[in-house]
Amino acid sequence: MSKDEKQVTWGGRFSEQPDALMQVFGESVSFDMRLAVYDLKGSLGHASMLAHVGLLSDEEFKSIEKGIQELFEEVKNDSFPWKLELEDVHMNLEQALRSKTEAADKLHTGRSRNDQVATDMRLFFKDACEQVKTGIEGLMFSLLTLAKQYANLPIPGYTHLQRAQPVTVGHHLLGYLESFGRDHERFSQVSEHANVCPLGSGAIAGTTLPIDREFTAKVLGFVDAEGEPRITANGMDAVADRDLFVEFSSTCSICALHLSRLAEDLILWNSTEFGFIRLPDAFTTGSSLMPQKKNPDSFELIRGKTGRIIGNLTNLLVTIKGLPLTYNRDLQEDKPPVFDSLDQLSQSLAVAAGCLSTAHFNEERCRHAASDPLLLATDLADYLVELGIPFRKAHHVVGALVTLSEEKKLSILELADVEVLAVCPDLKGDWREVFDLDRAFAKREKPGMPGPEQIASRVQFWEGILQA
Ligand code: ARG
Repeated sequence: MSKDEKQVTWGGRFSEQPDALMQVFGESVSFDMRLAVYDLKGSLGHASMLAHVGLLSDEEFKSIEKGIQELFEEVKNDSFPWKLELEDVHMNLEQALRSKTEAADKLHTGRSRNDQVATDMRLFFKDACEQVKTGIEGLMFSLLTLAKQYANLPIPGYTHLQRAQPVTVGHHLLGYLESFGRDHERFSQVSEHANVCPLGSGAIAGTTLPIDREFTAKVLGFVDAEGEPRITANGMDAVADRDLFVEFSSTCSICALHLSRLAEDLILWNSTEFGFIRLPDAFTTGSSLMPQKKNPDSFELIRGKTGRIIGNLTNLLVTIKGLPLTYNRDLQEDKPPVFDSLDQLSQSLAVAAGCLSTAHFNEERCRHAASDPLLLATDLADYLVELGIPFRKAHHVVGALVTLSEEKKLSILELADVEVLAVCPDLKGDWREVFDLDRAFAKREKPGMPGPEQIASRVQFWEGILQA
């Protein structure tokens, strides 16, 4: 920009150019160019409304429409010449349109960049939610395939990272399907919340011109199930509200938390100490020094990126917290964390899905770990309850048997009947049958439990959902 040239869009009341430093400091086009297709879509919708109410002639609208179509192409094939001095995506596109048609001077009628950017972001969020939902479905499919393949393979379940009770790989992985299923639902809700049109709010107080907000909302697809337009109810709120940014980022954070916990399970299972799972070469890396190493970097990075995604949420919360109504330029900083959360989460979902699709469980190691009879100590207490002993007492008795076996350095199963009867005279001759894993799972055929039929029916449930 030469020294005497005025800033094209808002330069009217200024006698001086923005300082070069201010131009670099204030620009957002380097990141909000990502909104170009939404901005063009919004402009086309706004222009068709202006034509509908007579603020644009048919001819003017047609030339704007043609110009916007050309810009869509330029943006799509990456040939659009973005200019830093034009500050943001909105002014870049408006100026480019102006070079195609004079009618572009009328495009900003009854519109402000405040309602424009709010609209762009709502259109963006709708697509972003769909993108993440597809990523979640991919991961759920990989998890489900493994859960089905190893539905009844026993492994210890842990609390406090101590062996607790036997479960199956199916039961454990189906647990994650529940979490990711909830994430999927949450992204649908965020998308639904995005489905309200702020255009027509102007800067804060709308316009004196006879615009038709419902018309704009309809053309842009901000409609309910009956096709009725959905528009924001308060202009000040519409341009100041950043709830969706926070909702989207927090939904990304929750989903990343689930991924991070899954990652941690897999990192543990992949360790030599556990040896439950073998991750594919394609998603692990070697050490530059130690030739024997095969590191689960994919899942470590997923765990690491979760920190970054949670950081993005904190970033937004802190940026917004002290702002008076309505728009403040601080809000330009709202986009990078949202874009980053979307990108990092989408990649993490794809990496987790890819890695799991070729992972294998080591059945022998899993069965060996699950054969620890102490995993069924609770089942022995339940057995005593069925003999009429109150649970607190049964719990105590089994605890005493565990201590006895530890003292004698024997497995609980190896204790002699006389020793066992001395602790608990109520035990019947068949007490050792409790330690049969098949019995343990067969007795767990109620909803939410790892009984084989329960697992099979949950697998079927998720297959139905994912195929729908
Ligand atoms: N680039 C700006 C942003 O992202 C667009 C809105 C500018 N509005 C304004 N009143 N300066 O926040």
